[in-house]
Amino acid sequence: MLTTETYVQRRNKLIETLDSGLVLLIGHDESPMNFIDNPYPFWQDGSFLYYLGLNEPGMAALIDVDENHCTLFGHERTLDEIVWTGELPTLAERGAEAGIADCQPPAELQSRLSAATQAGRTVHCLPPYRDSTTLKIGHLLEVPTADVESIVSRELVRAVVAQRSIKSEEEIAEIEQAMALAREIHTMAMRLARPGMKEQEIVGAIEGLLISQSSAVSFPVIFSVRGEVLHNHNHENIMQEGDLAILDAGAMSRARYASDITRTFPVGPTFTPRQRDIYQVVLAAEEAAIEALKPGKPYEEVHLLAARKVAEGLKGLGLMKGDVEAAVEQGAHALFFPHGLGHMMGLDVHDMESLGEDDVGYDDTVARSTQFGRAYLRLAKSLEPGHVITVEPGIYFIPQLIDSWAKEERLADFIVYDKLEEWKDFGGVRIEDDVLVTADGYRLLGEPIPKSVEEVEALRSS
Ligand code: GLY
Ligand code: MN
Repeated sequence: MLTTETYVQRRNKLIETLDSGLVLLIGHDESPMNFIDNPYPFWQDGSFLYYLGLNEPGMAALIDVDENHCTLFGHERTLDEIVWTGELPTLAERGAEAGIADCQPPAELQSRLSAATQAGRTVHCLPPYRDSTTLKIGHLLEVPTADVESIVSRELVRAVVAQRSIKSEEEIAEIEQAMALAREIHTMAMRLARPGMKEQEIVGAIEGLLISQSSAVSFPVIFSVRGEVLHNHNHENIMQEGDLAILDAGAMSRARYASDITRTFPVGPTFTPRQRDIYQVVLAAEEAAIEALKPGKPYEEVHLLAARKVAEGLKGLGLMKGDVEAAVEQGAHALFFPHGLGHMMGLDVHDMESLGEDDVGYDDTVARSTQFGRAYLRLAKSLEPGHVITVEPGIYFIPQLIDSWAKEERLADFIVYDKLEEWKDFGGVRIEDDVLVTADGYRLLGEPIPKSVEEVEALRSS
């Protein structure tokens, strides 16, 4: 776990970065499923967790940049609550964990904010993405709900993104913890899956293993023999010999840092020849992309490198044709590889994207493309030491997309449409690893998880 000192230093750094004013950080409340005492599993806001480290509901914090002071706001447990749910740390104890001495009831937050706004001071807020947070900000700052978005502080968004993007050794250790769990679930799934089993059995085993280790999934598991559906959360298929299964799943560390790994494996003991062909192309693209990672490298260039590897490989298999460079420039590879190469990862699996995907992945040097496929690239800007990113190319045969492109003969100079009919039942292949950008290159995080054809087949046959 991270130390109290870490949270104090993080807030001090934020205070140094901002000019003046107050920073309002709203923690999440419980979210009821059907009545107030049946909540969904609690999920703290990533920025609140980053600056306070408190993973419990019902709190807010106010950081006074000018006074170099932080206040924690929250309820003390009532006797009734203690009767039903037991005793929990007091607000003062929570404050102490976060290195905060000034702990106040929620009503005090309202009066401090009213005093600040009356004095003409700036209150910096992050963009809310939960309705309950939007309502709270509107209420606290006396702004109509519909206008809350317009009072978001761009200065605060920039400061938080800059700070959270660079992971410390302590954070890397947390991510490595999440990687170790990801390795367990992926190798377990590769050992467990058998023809005749329902996908749901594998998903259940994954969630069970993580919960039994006081962890949980870092995002809803994607596991399917219909891997051409990029985020397939339907797990009702019965796996058959000859199918190819994609597992995209990660875990959480104690301090809630994420891992995000994808492996693709045959439901039978070995890949079929055409599965092996496509798998090798994706693997070559992933390895080439990882090799290219270094500080100063625009991630969009790495994405395009992976796209060229995909196009080159598919040309070798007779599914694409023409000049590879031109094919990628015009976006022909996106028929098969329609998503971006990766994203930042940290406390959130798509780290900080709630603050604005463009604010995290783009800057003055690179604008988001409008081309199909390339437009989905979440991270395009230059890499820096301390960035933790995913590298996750894939090749998919999406029948509806193939039919749509074939009908209009889209980019027909580069795509061998005649051959695609027989590939429409293939599914997809994606391979994903999590990587730290270092001062002189990169470091693959976690212990290796079987990835080569030989390693995967060895585990499948064991
Ligand atoms: N692991 C799911 C994603 O990156 O979107
Ligand atoms: Mn990912």
